[in-house]
Amino acid sequence: MAARNPQTIPTMRKVDVVVVGAGAAGLFCAARAGQRGLRVLLLDHAPKLAEKIRISGGGRCNFTNAGTTPAQFISDNPDYCRSALARYTPADFMVLLRQHGIGFHEKHRGQMFCDEGSERIIRMLVDECNAGEVERLQPCRVHSLDRQATGFALATDAGPVHADQVVIATGGLSIPKIGATDFGLRMARQFGMRVVEPRPALVPLVFAAPAWTAYATLAGVSLPARVAAGPGPGPGRGSFDEDLLFTHRGLSGPAALQASSYWRPGQPVEIDLLPGLGLADHLRAAKATPRLQLGTVLHRLLPQRLAAVWLDQHGLDPRRLLADIRDRDLGRLAAGIAEWAPTPEGTEGWRKAEVMAGGVDTRDLDSRTMGSRATPGLHFIGEVVDVTGWLGGYNFQWAWASAAACAGALAAG
Ligand code: FDA
Repeated sequence: MAARNPQTIPTMRKVDVVVVGAGAAGLFCAARAGQRGLRVLLLDHAPKLAEKIRISGGGRCNFTNAGTTPAQFISDNPDYCRSALARYTPADFMVLLRQHGIGFHEKHRGQMFCDEGSERIIRMLVDECNAGEVERLQPCRVHSLDRQATGFALATDAGPVHADQVVIATGGLSIPKIGATDFGLRMARQFGMRVVEPRPALVPLVFAAPAWTAYATLAGVSLPARVAAGPGPGPGRGSFDEDLLFTHRGLSGPAALQASSYWRPGQPVEIDLLPGLGLADHLRAAKATPRLQLGTVLHRLLPQRLAAVWLDQHGLDPRRLLADIRDRDLGRLAAGIAEWAPTPEGTEGWRKAEVMAGGVDTRDLDSRTMGSRATPGLHFIGEVVDVTGWLGGYNFQWAWASAAACAGALAAG
């Protein structure tokens, strides 16, 4: 499926399906629809194919998570993803990889990575599209999309196109420099659908300079921590035991990225730098050891630079003997470490966000077909929809599963 040059095709094209966006969801949907015998045209405005797959997982593509359940997805309508995820599972995608002779391995907590790198996944998707005789035009912009008496009319760089059905797979707003646009959100609004306010997710948190000055010296320090955000208990709250990384401007690392998806402006994030320890009791018990210094105990538990900053903030000298410190003061120090609740000023934004939270409101979509309830034949799949996965392969699994559900529901011409 070599991409054709759109300039050479002036006449009206008629197809069963146009898929807009040749990323993870668009390629997979086009391939499956093509293999069902539908005439599929796949359009993408970017000069390069599937850039987000290419850069994913540090170039190795964390293509799914073996432990995927609906609980790892954020949406105003948490049940929406259930049907698609149940009908196309991580095991199904791994079978496809095996059929293509692609090796993969589990890295951490069900995260599945491609042995050969993300290029191999892109090649597999292109081969699948070829098997379905999908025609791809790229780069090719879509200037307008309008409903007709039957089907849809598109004005594109390649000239006019008539399609019985349209699938929008243009992804989220993150990393605009590699092709992200708001096309999908604009089309949803044009067809009278609701949009859940998009926001950057899986993104580093930043803090205002004066409040962060004391912590800026910790840039590069990383430790396992528990980070939580959002009101709870319930689906609006996320709590993650993962590595936390201090940066010059704030907090990053998997724990902060995961929590960022639940964080809303003005709220604090809740951080336990020693999860599961019971630090106050630990310090009180340690008082029984003769001549034990406070700094010695803390340095056994926390990175040295971090312990120094917290002791400084509590006005405690690390050389003080633990036995000489009042339980009340030790309790305050322990709470500062285990119940730290700084309020971010914001996030690093779309430039650094791995995904978009929010998107096309699922109340206006059918969870079995991914089709618009009000406009038959118009479908939305992948990240453009208000379904956002945790870090760890879940977002690709949603791309595959929503694409498979949609492809299976498209009508043959
Ligand atoms: P995707 O973004 O893949 O594709 C959208 C396509 O639409 C693009 O090709 C774009 O050019 C095209 N498009 C946009 N506007 C258009 C327009 N107006 N006209 C025509 N075409 C248009 N997830 C995961 O599960 N595991 C991982 O390892 C990673 N790693 C990762 C790293 C980084 C740095 C980022 C930014 C993201 C990830 N992700 C991830 C997230 C994952 O990449 C993302 O969720 C999926 O690619 C979403 O698939 P979609 O097909 O919905 O959008």
